Amino acid sequence: MRLKGKIAIVTGGGGGIGRATAIRFAKEGAKVAVSDIDSLSGEKTVNMIQQFGGDAIFVKTDVSDSNQVKELVHITTSTFGGLHIMFNNAGIANSEVRSVDLSEEEWDRVIDVNLKGVFLGIKYAVPELKKSGGGAIINTSSLLGLKGKKYQAAYNASKAGVIRLTQNAALEYGKYNIRVNAIAPGVIDTKIIDGWKQDARKWPIISRANALGRIGTPEEVANAVLFLASDEASFITGATLSVDGGGLTF
Ligand SMILES: NC(=O)c1ccc[n+]([C@@H]2O[C@H](COP(=O)([O-])OP(=O)(O)OC[C@H]3O[C@@H](n4cnc5c(N)ncnc54)[C@H](O)[C@@H]3O)[C@@H](O)[C@H]2O)c1
Repeated sequence: MRLKGKIAIVTGGGGGIGRATAIRFAKEGAKVAVSDIDSLSGEKTVNMIQQFGGDAIFVKTDVSDSNQVKELVHITTSTFGGLHIMFNNAGIANSEVRSVDLSEEEWDRVIDVNLKGVFLGIKYAVPELKKSGGGAIINTSSLLGLKGKKYQAAYNASKAGVIRLTQNAALEYGKYNIRVNAIAPGVIDTKIIDGWKQDARKWPIISRANALGRIGTPEEVANAVLFLASDEASFITGATLSVDGGGLTF
């Protein structure tokens, strides 16, 4: 078991990548606080973990709300006795519209969840990771944080911001043995891409736009997150790991 004795938080743990990672963490021996804005899906992840004898709790959280993220960290540490791994993963898409047609409200919400949510996760996790003698933070960026795509203004900007925020935190907290890395998934089979899937004209192109010619699974992303969370990645910090089937090179 690669995470035996570790305590982890997974935000967006009711969704595809978050759920697969929470399950993988628990199978590797971690105690997991599954956090999501959606109670039903978050509690389902906890049930799935408990079914194989894993240890998990659900904490309802809107990651864009400072008090709720603070409380998430507090509940986790008071329930399990500490924190070693913070996976800042919750995220939302923006509508497929030109930037001139994107409302300010939608811009603000996407930035608040995707970028401020990661900032708050770092802000409240770091003091607890310091108490544990170090730990790992993994932030979910995107292929679209590394390259632009039409009609994705807020999402592009938020995910690019996550990469710089990751480097900033890696520099600030390396001296406390806290490693901070990002993952940049390509097109992964989760709810967030439902809109693209319904586009009969574009989907055949989008779904093959990488070197491997297929979309990825949440479990394939979870494997990469597990690696970055584990001691096997002990000399890796400030990095952005693409999990995109070669989408960046395409
Ligand atoms: N699926 C892809 O193709 C893909 C590609 C690149 C990056 N990502 C990123 O991966 C992450 C996970 O997305 P996913 O693909 O699993 O999609 P998903 O929609 O299945 O999961 C996202 C989860 O985040 C939760 N969430 C949304 N807003 C929240 C908030 N304010 N506070 C807490 N939880 C909230 C949702 O309820 C959902 O359970 C996101 O950051 C997304 O941007 C996904």
